[in-house]
Amino acid sequence: MTKKRAGPPAVTVPIRRHPWLGIHLVASLSALAFLLTLLWIQFYTPNPPLLTPLRFRDPIPFSGKPKIAFLFLTRAGMPLDFVWHAFFMNARVGNFSVYVHSKPGFKLDRSTTRSPFFYGRHIEDSVQVIWGESSMIEAERLLLSVALDDPANQRFVLLSDSCVPLYNFDYVYNYLISSQKSFVDSFFDKKERRYNEKMAPSIPRHKWRKGSQWITLIRRHAEVIVDDDAIFPIFKQYCKRKLKDVDGHIFKPARKKPQSCIPDEHYVPTLLSMRELEDKLERRTLTYTLWNSSKSSWHPVTFKYGNASPQDIDKIKEINNVYYDADLRTEWCQCNGTFVPCFLFARKFSRGAAVQLLSEGTFGPFDASSLLQESS
Ligand SMILES: *[C@@H]1O[C@H](CO)[C@@H](O)[C@H](O)[C@H]1NC(C)=O
Ligand SMILES: *[C@@H]1O[C@H](CO)[C@@H](O)[C@H](O)[C@H]1NC(C)=O
Ligand SMILES: *[C@@H]1O[C@H](CO)[C@@H](O)[C@H](O)[C@H]1NC(C)=O
Repeated sequence: MTKKRAGPPAVTVPIRRHPWLGIHLVASLSALAFLLTLLWIQFYTPNPPLLTPLRFRDPIPFSGKPKIAFLFLTRAGMPLDFVWHAFFMNARVGNFSVYVHSKPGFKLDRSTTRSPFFYGRHIEDSVQVIWGESSMIEAERLLLSVALDDPANQRFVLLSDSCVPLYNFDYVYNYLISSQKSFVDSFFDKKERRYNEKMAPSIPRHKWRKGSQWITLIRRHAEVIVDDDAIFPIFKQYCKRKLKDVDGHIFKPARKKPQSCIPDEHYVPTLLSMRELEDKLERRTLTYTLWNSSKSSWHPVTFKYGNASPQDIDKIKEINNVYYDADLRTEWCQCNGTFVPCFLFARKFSRGAAVQLLSEGTFGPFDASSLLQESS
């Protein structure tokens, strides 16, 4: 931290004519400046970091069958509900739960989904999500908060509306339950320009992390995120991509380079690093994304019918390590100390690609007519 100091007093004319007066003046002014500086430091030193000590919630006694909570962050409804239907069909009902965050007012029922697994699974009081803004984290926190109400939920998987599973339910279930760690992509990028110096000292630069939004959490970490009242307000204050005018029209701030910190790629890994929980993480995401770097800006590739062949899917399933350029770190994918394939889910899938995946029996035997019956 650099602190502003009072400059040397500007005394010029009197010195030549009355040397003693000049020296007295300089001395008193210096003393005054010194006193003012002391006072300034006294009253204007920024507050120390506001991070209160981490206190975990008392664990809710739970001895039954643990559930995996699947949390879908969607625009409106579930375009790939038929894939997840096939996936859940091969699960035992007590082994999972489903929660969906859609735009406010959107309800999941017979008229909006063909899969009964999603009926009524939308959360009330959802928020309007604006991409690149803290409302995205708000939606995540809402999903986690609602899912925490069920003590049987022991793992929390955050997914988008274009995500598909790559394995059957049994495989996913055992993979997740066998790990006592969360799966959170988290790395320190020296070249990172989304960090805003104003977030210091509450969030120092060396604690700032980046990583995929698509996380899987153990219960304890889900609680840390829902209970966080120190880091989230700072993201809310400094992560604004766009501003709205009074009519609700969105316009970009006039500055040349609007500070855009894409909170959903930073909030969870930064919070968990602030909370010294990084050693309780497998520092990788379980959701595969293929990035297209051919343009000036990176963007995820959408798998379509043409590039989601069984061979393409097998290639994803064979990946067993991830290289982090920024950290010069290779993450050999592990789960409870055993080497495993890195990815359980993938995005972004079109309906065509999802149909293809389904027809290959990835999730076990699937009777397509079960969906047709539901919709009639
Ligand atoms: C469901 O959970 C039980 C007990 O935890 C486990 O034995 C079973 O393999 C799980 N399977 C499926 C398909 O849900
Ligand atoms: C994790 O691995 C250990 C050692 O291989 C094993 O004993 C334990 O049962 C595993 N934990 C779970 C939850 O599968
Ligand atoms: C990547 O983007 C370029 C330019 O938009 C496009 O021509 C190309 O097909 C994309 N590649 C993939 C694999 O989608």
